[in-house]
Amino acid sequence: MSFSHNPVMLETSINNLNIIKDGTYVDCTFGRGGHSKNILERIGKNGKLIAIDKDNEAEDFAKENFNDDSRFIFEKNNFSNIVNIVEKHNGKNKVNGILLDLGVSSPQLDNPERGFSFMKEGPLDMRMDTSSKMTALLWLKEADLKDISRVLKIYGEEKYSYRIARAIKKSIEKDSLQTTIDLSKVISECYPKSISSKINPATRSFQAIRIYINKELQELEKILDDCLQIIEIGGRLVVISFHSLEDRIVKNFINKHSLGKEVISKLPITNLSQNLNLKKIKVPLKASDNEIDENIRSRSAKIRVAEKI
Ligand SMILES: C[S@@+](CC[C@H](N)C(=O)[O-])C[C@H]1O[C@@H](n2cnc3c(N)ncnc32)[C@H](O)[C@@H]1O
Repeated sequence: MSFSHNPVMLETSINNLNIIKDGTYVDCTFGRGGHSKNILERIGKNGKLIAIDKDNEAEDFAKENFNDDSRFIFEKNNFSNIVNIVEKHNGKNKVNGILLDLGVSSPQLDNPERGFSFMKEGPLDMRMDTSSKMTALLWLKEADLKDISRVLKIYGEEKYSYRIARAIKKSIEKDSLQTTIDLSKVISECYPKSISSKINPATRSFQAIRIYINKELQELEKILDDCLQIIEIGGRLVVISFHSLEDRIVKNFINKHSLGKEVISKLPITNLSQNLNLKKIKVPLKASDNEIDENIRSRSAKIRVAEKI
């Protein structure tokens, strides 16, 4: 079965990479290559694109559809290994732009076998990298109640985190938790009947477990720091995120490296002496209404851009 992905904020993100023809770019989240394809259309014959994804199916797709292009290199890896990956393919040379389109792809979400969706029956998997050992079910079995509750609260901002964690543990003891739909039912039953909400009660917990088992926020924090080492001066970092925890990390990172501490007048502290290394580039934070009408995934997307100085 094949599942497609409609790239989010495509024009805004690639325009803001400020592509130069002979430049080297890194697409850290290849998915089904929507952004990669657009970068390849804009670089010249001496340009280079290094694409990364930790998903086996993304790798297969890249091999089948992009391998004829000699300017394209694919690495199945965690993007937090970007420094080594760039060194392998670009030596000590820096890159001219880095793109991150975070979260899961539509093919991951739409294929029930991957276990990301609470709407479709499938194994409780949720691994982006299926060669890693820790599935969602294995973690729920191994973790204790407090850990599960903490993950649901921190990564899902779930108000009934403790109640849900307790119900999950009970269901595991009875051996009745195997599939996404089993988990979705356990979560729904923890919500008071009087609460009616537009979003499915399982949304937050599924998001939290997925973020936790794929180490999504740790990966993001590491790559942001590493980007500073490998982007050329004038090169751009473009990040599209899909929930507030990710966006906060990106926003704080850019602020930290572009604003510095408040400079007190009359003291000899200048922006230069504060070692600032990014300039914040102002772009419309969210997708246009037209794009949201055409691609519902773009509804929660936020984009942030910074330039190395
Ligand atoms: C939103 S999709 C990207 C879609 C892509 N821009 C496109 O147009 O098809 C995110 C992709 O990033 C991958 N991914 C997420 N976190 C990753 C990480 N830490 N390391 C490598 N790949 C990651 C996922 O497997 C997924 O395929």
